[in-house]
Amino acid sequence: MEKMLKNRKYHILTFGCQMNEHDSEIISGMLEERGAEAVDNKYADIIILNTCSVRENADKRFFGTLGHLKKRKQLNKNFVICVCGCMMQQQHIIDTLKQKYPWVDVIFGTHNIHQFPDILQRVISEKQKMTEVWEEAGEIIENLPAKRLHKHKSFVNIMYGCNNFCTYCIVPYTRGRERSRDANEIIREAEDLAKDGVKEITLLGQNVNSYKSENSDFAGLIYRLNEVDGIERIRFMTSHPKDLSDRLIKAFVDCSKLCKSIHLPVQSGSDEILKRMNRKYTKENYLELVSKIKATVPDVAISTDIIVGFPGETDRDFEETLDLCRQVQYDSAFTFIYSVRKGTPAEKYENQIPEEEKHRRFNMLVDVLNESSALKNQEYVGRTEKVLVDGPSKTRKSVLTGRTNSFKLVNFEGDESLIGQIINVEIISATTFSLKGRIV
Ligand code: SAH
Ligand code: SF4
Ligand code: F3S
Repeated sequence: MEKMLKNRKYHILTFGCQMNEHDSEIISGMLEERGAEAVDNKYADIIILNTCSVRENADKRFFGTLGHLKKRKQLNKNFVICVCGCMMQQQHIIDTLKQKYPWVDVIFGTHNIHQFPDILQRVISEKQKMTEVWEEAGEIIENLPAKRLHKHKSFVNIMYGCNNFCTYCIVPYTRGRERSRDANEIIREAEDLAKDGVKEITLLGQNVNSYKSENSDFAGLIYRLNEVDGIERIRFMTSHPKDLSDRLIKAFVDCSKLCKSIHLPVQSGSDEILKRMNRKYTKENYLELVSKIKATVPDVAISTDIIVGFPGETDRDFEETLDLCRQVQYDSAFTFIYSVRKGTPAEKYENQIPEEEKHRRFNMLVDVLNESSALKNQEYVGRTEKVLVDGPSKTRKSVLTGRTNSFKLVNFEGDESLIGQIINVEIISATTFSLKGRIV
């Protein structure tokens, strides 16, 4: 490959979910294949903003960042500003960019990231601006290079898009319909990663339970990945409760490498709200599912996503959510204040909840969730856990952080040479969000 981007210095700012993080790894891989070099933001002459549309504050942060970049563009004529990701799949965003942010040079979407290096080269050599966004996804493109953030763990995309159309959610519009990768391609990628020293893979998809390729369903894929030498841990996200199969629950028992943690977004505990969210399960269905998982997989850690203040949510609906949380006793949870998304069905729903009330409910919910997180973490004290060491802690160099099999964050004193290894750590204390341990 010709090194057309030699001596070019780039920096990527990633907003949003793991899907975007992994796309950014691929963008890095493609740019470096052509000779570009990753640098800190302030030294970059190419900046790429990989955006997320899931909530309004993500939009705000993006436009704020773009505002700041105007100065740099004025000071340096060769500075190239590129924007991509989910926001670019929304026409009203592109219109806003063209009207109010004319200093943006390259706009591309989620379906054509493989074209980015070519587009960038043209923009640089022809000193022009380019917008190239595909409305629909094309064929899945295999074998794009990726520059992984970690040596010992890696994301693996198994499917793209979403068919569920939860009424609050923008993702089906920005990521298109469900497409599953061929199982053989996924196995081959896992084998290559293992040869490269990767011990843990996290399978990514908006709803991995509906993975389906010619020769495998999702559970089948896990059984096959469990046989890949060198891979020691398998995780996945995200699972939609409506189609989590008994076969998958059984895989937790049969597949020694499948980690005992599951992210199972519930969104609400009220049947009425769940119905209007188009989630296709009831509170009872969900609680039964959780009981089945807990009964089959002892020590499993369960986490979730919850939205408060969905249009029309009454105090009673909200009480149902609190009640569900008390029953499940989540290990951890991501909580969100409902945010209106343009173009989704819920945008038109009546009885939008006032901001103040949304915040009041949000705080109440967090209190309930924190209580169970703290209790769950306390159960670990005195146990010895296998921990995959990720790196030095952000705050103290001599402290390492890692994850237990069940994805609990553990801090402990240790030498950086342990990074990437799975070691035994005795848990000596616990807080709401992490565990403290000592190497055995
Ligand atoms: N596909 C995944 C996650 C999608 S987005 C899943 O279905 O679980 C991650 C989370 O963002 C969702 O689970 C939901 O809790 C939250 N979310 C999505 N749209 C939102 C909105 N409009 N307002 C607030 N939270 C939202
Ligand atoms: Fe959005 Fe629902 Fe699809 Fe998740 S399953 S990405 S919340 S539409
Ligand atoms: Fe955001 Fe797109 Fe992910 S909207 S949450 S970056 S799929």
